Parts: sequence; C-alpha cells; structure tokens
Amino acid sequence: MRLDKFICKSTELTRTEAKKSLKRGKLKVNGEVITNAATQVHENNHITLNGQELQARSSRYIMMHKPLDTICSNVDEVHPSLLNFVDVDKAFDLHIAGRLDVDTTGLVLITDDGRWSHNIISPKKQCNKIYRVWLRDPVEQSIIQEFKDGVQLQGENSLTKPAELVIVETDNNDYREVLLTITEGKYHQVKRMFAAVRNRVVGLHREQIGEIKLGENLAPGEWRYLTKDEVESIN
Ligand code: URA
Repeated sequence: MRLDKFICKSTELTRTEAKKSLKRGKLKVNGEVITNAATQVHENNHITLNGQELQARSSRYIMMHKPLDTICSNVDEVHPSLLNFVDVDKAFDLHIAGRLDVDTTGLVLITDDGRWSHNIISPKKQCNKIYRVWLRDPVEQSIIQEFKDGVQLQGENSLTKPAELVIVETDNNDYREVLLTITEGKYHQVKRMFAAVRNRVVGLHREQIGEIKLGENLAPGEWRYLTKDEVESIN
C-alpha cells in the first residue's frame, strides 16, 4: 500500500498530517528516510516514525443495512453518506465494496482492504449478488430465460452475464416480487435489466453478496463486524 496510507493505518494521523511528517523527513523505511507519500510499502517492511516502529492496524470488515436516502460515497451530498452511521475510528478511510443507489436498501460491505473488495467488485471474480426486487408489472415466465441468456442494456456493447430470476410466491401471487442473482455490478444494473424487458423496478433490496447474508436482526442503519468465516468466504 502507499506509504501515507500505511501511516494513517498505524497512527492517529490524518492523510495530510502523514504527508507533512514525510516532508519533514521523519519517516524511515528499512532505515532509509523516505519523503515520497506514494512509495509502495509492505507490512513486512521496518517502518519508523520519529524512531518509533509502526504496526498497521489489521483491516476492518463491516456489514451494514443501508437505509433509504443514504448514499454509498465517502462524502455527503444531497443525502448523507452511510459512513456517518459507522461509529468507528476514521470511518471515512473505509470504502464501500459495491455501491447501492440512494433508493436501494439492504446489504452493504465496508472495508479498508482493497484487495478483498476487488474480489467482490471485479466482474472476473463472478461474485453473486442477490436482490429482492419489487416490480410495477407482473413478470412473465419468459423473462427467466431472457435473463439467463443475457439482455441488452442501453449503451452497453455486450449482453448482461447469465442471471438467475426466481419469482417469489406471495399471498396474492401477483408475480411482482422476484429474487435476482447477478454477478456483475454495472451502473443501475438491476433497474436497467427490467427496463430492457419493459418493466420497472419500484423497490430494490440487496440480501446477499457471495455467501454473506444480511443479518436478520440488523435494522436499517445498523452494522456489525463480519465474522472470520464471512471475511474468508470472499476470495
Ligand atoms: N442495481 C440497481 O439498479 N441499483 C442498485 O442499487 C443496485 C443494483
């Protein structure tokens, strides 16, 4: 990781303060003064600040139940960032592994481990994401096959990757609630997939990422650390 990031991970300094210490020549990597904040370092390097050895804090892995009207961003905009709800040290150093729209609720994974989140986001890794979707119009059975074969989204060069659609049996059985499993995360993907088959998403909730399910007792806005098994299930 970058040296300035390593300093933040192992001290209480902000990124700006870390850069200042670097400029002042206070930092040594394996005995050599380093002033370039972008220098790549590894946890096995011997890194000292003012002569004190630095140890990086271990990475953090969090699940959160995203409420409506919050955004998956590291800065507040019209709506607040959901990181405001995560009351840990330096919450805004964390990032969100797979964003949800402002009007989508459900499972969000938050971490400061870029390699781990890459395994969730990268289309090559084919990590499943399961969404519960509420629709304006009843779905027809033929959509199951259409989604399996891939649909053409506006502005994209290729069809969507195979997706699994299951129609949920509800009390009134009106075919307006489905579970959709996708492995990609294109911009507004679920909404655009239903638009491609002339339907419209009226409610969207993410239930699962890979093997990690949204905890049933997490109310909107609540979060918890992932268990070791949950962290290791993403690879
Ligand atoms: N697809 C969407 O359209 N929106 C989301 O928030 C997530 C997936």
